[in-house]
Amino acid sequence: MSDETKFEPRIVAFLCNWCTYAGADLAGTGRKQYQANVRVIKLPCTGGIDPLFLIKAFERGADGILVSGCHPGDCHYNSGNYHARRRWNVFRPLLEFCGINPERIQFSWISAAEGGKWVETINGVVDSVRALGPFEGYHKINAIGPDASSEKS
Ligand code: FES
Repeated sequence: MSDETKFEPRIVAFLCNWCTYAGADLAGTGRKQYQANVRVIKLPCTGGIDPLFLIKAFERGADGILVSGCHPGDCHYNSGNYHARRRWNVFRPLLEFCGINPERIQFSWISAAEGGKWVETINGVVDSVRALGPFEGYHKINAIGPDASSEKS
């Protein structure tokens, strides 16, 4: 078996508590099967997701990220998801500058009633990141990390 076929992507999913997290929960209680590559971080609203959270996830070993919240017009804080979308439009070009392929981050709107959509979305994210291969952009930085600073002192 080659290294490529062994690669299992690590996906971090930042989910809004009110819609997508509940949709993922619905998929679980409905015993729907999906790829187990995802680690969920639940937040009150996508509007509160700082772009640095995404950079930090990559720095800590994520290969891909999903950000998902309420559908437009359904945000429980009125416009948090619109703010998240605008922030993404500004942040996207900076990702490439930071050496991260923007295709490694995907956004979706999934409601609490859409357990099936959660399954399709997360399977799609895992498959597309698997095709991109592992994200190794920060391995060198992490390797330098604390050891390098102790060498300097
Ligand atoms: Fe779900 Fe704002 S509460 S995106």
